[in-house]
Amino acid sequence: MIPSYYEYYNPVKIISGHDALESVGHELKLLGAKRPILITFEIAAKLGLVKKLIDSLSGYDVSVGAIYEEPPPDSSNLVVNEIARMYKENNCDSIIALGGGSVLDTAKGVNIVVTEGAEDLMDYVGAEYLTKRMKPLIAIPATSGTGSEVTLAAVIKNVEKGCKMAFTSYRLIPDVAILDSRITLSVPPRLTAASGMDALTHAVEAYSCIQKNPVSDAYAMSAISLIRDYLVKTLEKPKDKDARLAMANASLLAGCAFSNSMCGIVHAMGHATGAIGHVPHGEAMAIFLPLGMEYNMDVCKDYYAELLLPLAGPEVYASTPANKRAAKAVDTVNQLNKKLNKLSGMPISLEEAGVSKGQLKSISEAAIDDGAINFNPKDANSDDILRIVEKAYRR
Ligand SMILES: [Fe+2]
Repeated sequence: MIPSYYEYYNPVKIISGHDALESVGHELKLLGAKRPILITFEIAAKLGLVKKLIDSLSGYDVSVGAIYEEPPPDSSNLVVNEIARMYKENNCDSIIALGGGSVLDTAKGVNIVVTEGAEDLMDYVGAEYLTKRMKPLIAIPATSGTGSEVTLAAVIKNVEKGCKMAFTSYRLIPDVAILDSRITLSVPPRLTAASGMDALTHAVEAYSCIQKNPVSDAYAMSAISLIRDYLVKTLEKPKDKDARLAMANASLLAGCAFSNSMCGIVHAMGHATGAIGHVPHGEAMAIFLPLGMEYNMDVCKDYYAELLLPLAGPEVYASTPANKRAAKAVDTVNQLNKKLNKLSGMPISLEEAGVSKGQLKSISEAAIDDGAINFNPKDANSDDILRIVEKAYRR
C-alpha cells in the first residue's frame, strides 16, 4: 500500500569496485577539498590500503593534512574533540573516514565539531541541531553491516555520563561512499557473519516499520537478495572479492533503506543488550531478528510473505503456499542463523552471547526506552519485550 505521505532523502554519491579506493583523489577534487584529515584504523595501514589511498591523491593537488589512527571501538566525545583539534591545527578542510562503523561515526562527530565551531561534541546531541553545511566527508566502510556511509546518524559515547548518545541530522550524511572489496577481504568470520545479519535486520525492519515507503522498499529488497546470495559465500570463500563487494553493497542499500524508514523492536532490544550485556550489535541483531519478526507477525504477515522472495529465492517462494510464506520467511532467517553459527561461531542465543539470566529484566526495561521502539509496527510494553528476551536466552 502506498503511504499517503512520505519523504526519502539520500544524496550520497556511491562508488563501488574492486579498486574504488583509487578514486578518492578525484572525488576530493570534485568536492573542492585540498587538505583532508584521514581517520582510519591500524590494520588499514598494514594492509597497504592507506598507502593506496594516499597515492590516489597525487595529481589532484590534494595532500593529507593529518592522520588519526585507531579511534577506540567505543569512540567518545573526548576522542572526537581531540581529532577535531588535530583537524584545526593542521588546517584541514575535509575528512576521509576509512574503517568500521565506529570510525565512520567518529568522523561524523568530528565534522560536527569542526563545522559548528563547537568546544564539545555533546553540545549538539539529538536530532537536527546542526545549522551549517558540513565539511566534505568521504566514507569508506571496512565492515559490511552498519551502512553508516549513507546514514544520517552517529552514535558516540559521552564519557561523563558513561552512555552512548545519538546524533541525527540530514547534514551528517557523507558526500561520497566508496565500497572497495580489498577493504573487507580480511574481516574475520564471526564479524563478517554478524555484520551481515545487522544489514539484513536493517533491510527487514525498514521494509516492515511504520515509515516504510516504495523507495526504501526497493533498497531493502535489493539488499536482502544480495545477502541471500553472498553472505554465506563470504564465509565459505572469505577471499572471494565479488562476494565481499556484493555484501558491501547490501550493507549500503540496507543503510539507505533504514536511514529513511527507521528500525524497530529488533534494534531496540539490540541496543539494550549491547549496553547491558555488552553483546556486539550484529550478534544481537542475529539473535533477535527472527523473534522480532514472530512478535510483529500478526501486523506484518503480508510484508514478511513478500520478503520470502528475496530471502529464499523464487523457487522457494513459488513452491510455498501464500498463507505460509510469512512463517517460511522467519524460518529462513532461523536457518541462516544456524548456518552462520556453524561457519563462524556467531552466537544465536543470549546465553551463548554471554548474557546472564539476571540481566534479562534490565534489558527489557532499557529496550522500552529506546527510540527505535517508536517506529515498530506493533506496540510493545516491557512485559512483551521480556517474553521475547527470555525466548532469546536459550534457543
Ligand atoms: Fe543495526
